[in-house]
Amino acid sequence: MTNRWRMWMLAGGASALAVLAAGCKKKTDEIPVGAYLSLTGSDSTFGIDTKKGIELALDEINAQGGIKGKRVRLLVEDNKSTAAETTQKVQQLIDRDKVVAVLGEVASSRSKAGGLICNTKKVPMVTPSSTAVEVTQGRPYVFRTCFTDAQQGEAAARFVRDTLRKNTAGVFYAAQDTYSSGLAKVFRAKFEAFGGKVVIEKDYQKGETNFSTYLRELKGANPEIIFVPIYYNEMVTLARQAKNEGMSGAMFMGGDGWDSTDLLEGAGGDLEGAHFTNHYSPDVPWENSRIFITSFKAKYGHEPNSLAAQGYDAARVLFDAMTRATEVKPEAIREALAATKDFKGATGTMTMDSDRNVKKPVVVVRITGKAFKFAAEIQ
Ligand code: PHE
Repeated sequence: MTNRWRMWMLAGGASALAVLAAGCKKKTDEIPVGAYLSLTGSDSTFGIDTKKGIELALDEINAQGGIKGKRVRLLVEDNKSTAAETTQKVQQLIDRDKVVAVLGEVASSRSKAGGLICNTKKVPMVTPSSTAVEVTQGRPYVFRTCFTDAQQGEAAARFVRDTLRKNTAGVFYAAQDTYSSGLAKVFRAKFEAFGGKVVIEKDYQKGETNFSTYLRELKGANPEIIFVPIYYNEMVTLARQAKNEGMSGAMFMGGDGWDSTDLLEGAGGDLEGAHFTNHYSPDVPWENSRIFITSFKAKYGHEPNSLAAQGYDAARVLFDAMTRATEVKPEAIREALAATKDFKGATGTMTMDSDRNVKKPVVVVRITGKAFKFAAEIQ
């Protein structure tokens, strides 16, 4: 072998190694974080809006230099609004993609499914907006950055009693849905504890589309207001049918599940004067929300809704915990998440309690002129 040839081989070998090294460097220089959301299917606006908030927080953390010198890489999976798909997608994120933490979901039933996997595999999960009490219960790896339905149901009952001054209420909910049935139960108990009377309670099976018979029965019991803690897609159908039954929009009170522009577009007029409890409203008089709204509008060109604000807050709480963690590994991140204290988010200041929940203000939104308007804040 000539010297020249040897030199050439060496140079080639070295550059091949350099290419390899660069490839490896790229992988280990990024921190994989997973997210599972309903980007298609029945509740797609939940996932789409949440993703926007998460991606804004991601841009911000990476623009600040990432976490411990590494960029955060977000891997987003669509569960098509089903629990079965959730289980598969969360398993993939953990086993195949080796994510160090997981963000998701919105609907409590799917956060329960995803949380089971995360908890078993010991990877921390943060849900931005699942409010059913059991989502975090007995699962040390599952956290939330929103209030629970114990808090939301009580706030709704208080608003109906103290502000709207109603003495009687009807309750209508989706029987097998974790969120809907849980929230209905809390409202009923609290409304009666505050001196009101629930004069009629009805449930339906998820997927039913004709509510006319139920509506006639509810109307027949003559309640002053009807509490309907269901998701926006079914609420649109119900509101249109209620209008046909001659019921006024102001008769209805809902929970955070109503929050979607699809509700406004599909039944905004039919629900004129209705109220619902929520995490946030674009016109909340909170300083931190204003900063978020400005940066959100700059990125997307439209106002954020509650889902986007919640997604943003959940991602920021997670990135903050990852920054404080002794190492960027699941167990250390879990410990740092549990120690979250006085974190200032767009939807309130968050301190993680020993059950991995946070207490936050509940906003009451009023539907006026086909728009969501801030009506009250209940601590
Ligand atoms: N809180 C609802 C649930 O737990 C989900 C939701 C949150 C829907 C916020 C809309 C807005 O299922």
